[in-house]
Amino acid sequence: MIGRPLRWTQRLKIALLHRVSLPFHWLFNRFPNAEVGHARAEITTLACRHAPLAGRRAVQITDLHLDRYHSRHDSLLDTIAGLKPDWIFVTGDLLTVSDGLPHLFRFLAGLRDLAPVYLTLGNHDHYSGIPVDRFSEWADRHKVHLLINQAMFVQTEDGELGIVGLDDPSLHRADLRCIPPPAPDRFTVLLAHAPNVLDHLDDHHGVDLVLCGHSHGGQWQVPFLRPFWLPYGCNGRTQGHHDRNGHRLYINRGIGWSLLPIRWSCPPEILVIDWS
Ligand SMILES: [Fe+2]
Repeated sequence: MIGRPLRWTQRLKIALLHRVSLPFHWLFNRFPNAEVGHARAEITTLACRHAPLAGRRAVQITDLHLDRYHSRHDSLLDTIAGLKPDWIFVTGDLLTVSDGLPHLFRFLAGLRDLAPVYLTLGNHDHYSGIPVDRFSEWADRHKVHLLINQAMFVQTEDGELGIVGLDDPSLHRADLRCIPPPAPDRFTVLLAHAPNVLDHLDDHHGVDLVLCGHSHGGQWQVPFLRPFWLPYGCNGRTQGHHDRNGHRLYINRGIGWSLLPIRWSCPPEILVIDWS
């Protein structure tokens, strides 16, 4: 597992914050009209050069916090359908409370009807109290791929896409030993919830692109000022492109919310990855 285990004070602080947030999620999930700034997702495009995958497209979404299915989730499915992805990646914080499971999988089944779906878990998925086995059972039943420190390989006509899904790095549950060695004609995407994973990748890790969420882009932003809030595990990174040790990371702002259903100057985001 990466990094040192969390100190007991950090674990206590995180547990208290989660407990405090639960009544807010319970309340606001019943009133979708209370959501501010979630109506329209911004689409960001990321270009990747890898000839064997030229012409292929993937979509990444993250931080769904989908505890109750609302009409905006239908709109999201319509938007993603219009993008015509070959693969869909979802990088954790799928929900916040355990009651959300059927609502979440209704949405994931909608995604699966568009393209193969690859998921990994985030900190809130673990805080929800749902055991990993139960997530896996629901994922199997709905024919989506839940990757918990696992790698999968998708063969294409000219090459191969490697998809590695780590358990949440912010909770020190990520095990980098599942990253396969580099191979000719393979492009490897690493899905991990929290951006601190970038600080643990070395030269020998054959990873071409790291996709994360977790930050919500700060969720509330005043232009030219640093975000008011960033969760543990961001290591100061808020959103967008980052590089370290020759590894390339993109942090997606996500499509859901924590604590309050408000996004301020920080619209939800859908990332489109285009290979050429
Ligand atoms: Fe989140």
